Amino acid sequence: MKIVVIGGSGLIGSKLVSNLRQQGHEVLAASPSSGVNAVTGEGLANALTGASVVVDVANSPSFEDKAVLEFFETSGRNLLAAEEAAGVRHHIALSVVGADRLPDSGYLRAKVAQERLIKASKIPYTIIRATQFFEFVGGIAQSATEGDTVRLPSALMQPIVSDDVAAALADVAVGEPRNGTVELAGPEPIRMDDFVRRFLTAKRDTRTVTTDPHARYFGTEVNDRSLTPDDNARIGTARFGDWLARTVSQG
Ligand SMILES: NC(=O)c1ccc[n+]([C@@H]2O[C@H](COP(=O)([O-])OP(=O)(O)OC[C@H]3O[C@@H](n4cnc5c(N)ncnc54)[C@H](OP(=O)(O)O)[C@@H]3O)[C@@H](O)[C@H]2O)c1
Repeated sequence: MKIVVIGGSGLIGSKLVSNLRQQGHEVLAASPSSGVNAVTGEGLANALTGASVVVDVANSPSFEDKAVLEFFETSGRNLLAAEEAAGVRHHIALSVVGADRLPDSGYLRAKVAQERLIKASKIPYTIIRATQFFEFVGGIAQSATEGDTVRLPSALMQPIVSDDVAAALADVAVGEPRNGTVELAGPEPIRMDDFVRRFLTAKRDTRTVTTDPHARYFGTEVNDRSLTPDDNARIGTARFGDWLARTVSQG
């Protein structure tokens, strides 16, 4: 079975590609750095020839509202059209838990637009909505930094390590399409301010985290229900504390 991973050079994509190759599948890691661009369409038709399954784990180079919407809409349309032409039997995309609950976030509006295109297409699909990756903690800190202060709400999250996301995607890629959405989260709830504070402390970063219930998370206010999964989510195994210790010891 040929599986194409769009965004196959990224954090999740590269792990997914190696998982699937270890299972003996023919896998094409497709991204602009290997001549496949889902936004311009360059290289797409060739990449999809003979493919049964496509996993879209591409991400927008820009998180600016208009740019990110254009990225997910254009790449989504191009991909689905090319997949229909190639006879692809299962389209899988990685989205975000709570995306539809947070319309003030330009990034999440773009993920909802991506999901909408998938649901409207003729291709059988599975949408996987994951919570925030442990590896994204530095990006959250960066996005909320003003000078030496990181201003964040204390909303609950349930982040997950990228390896657990890649493992779940690999299972879905070789299974039947659900024509629905599956949620994926880490094993422990944690408050956003604590998540970032623990990371900065472990990294000996001198920035201070200030808790502010109205501080925005990528453009939107969030509460305890915004980013947390439903009861039937698949739960990863890796704990944040263990990941943090490993990450710090690796420099
Ligand atoms: N970060 C989180 O906490 C989180 C949580 C839930 C879901 N997600 C979703 O997870 C997905 C993957 O995220 P990630 O962190 O693994 O991304 P990443 O490491 O930033 O990788 C992005 C990938 O997208 C590729 N790409 C960029 N422009 C492209 C284009 N025009 N056509 C095809 N591929 C293109 C890149 O290719 P090059 O290397 O060639 O540029 C790279 O392989 C995203 O869709 C995101 O919305 C993220």
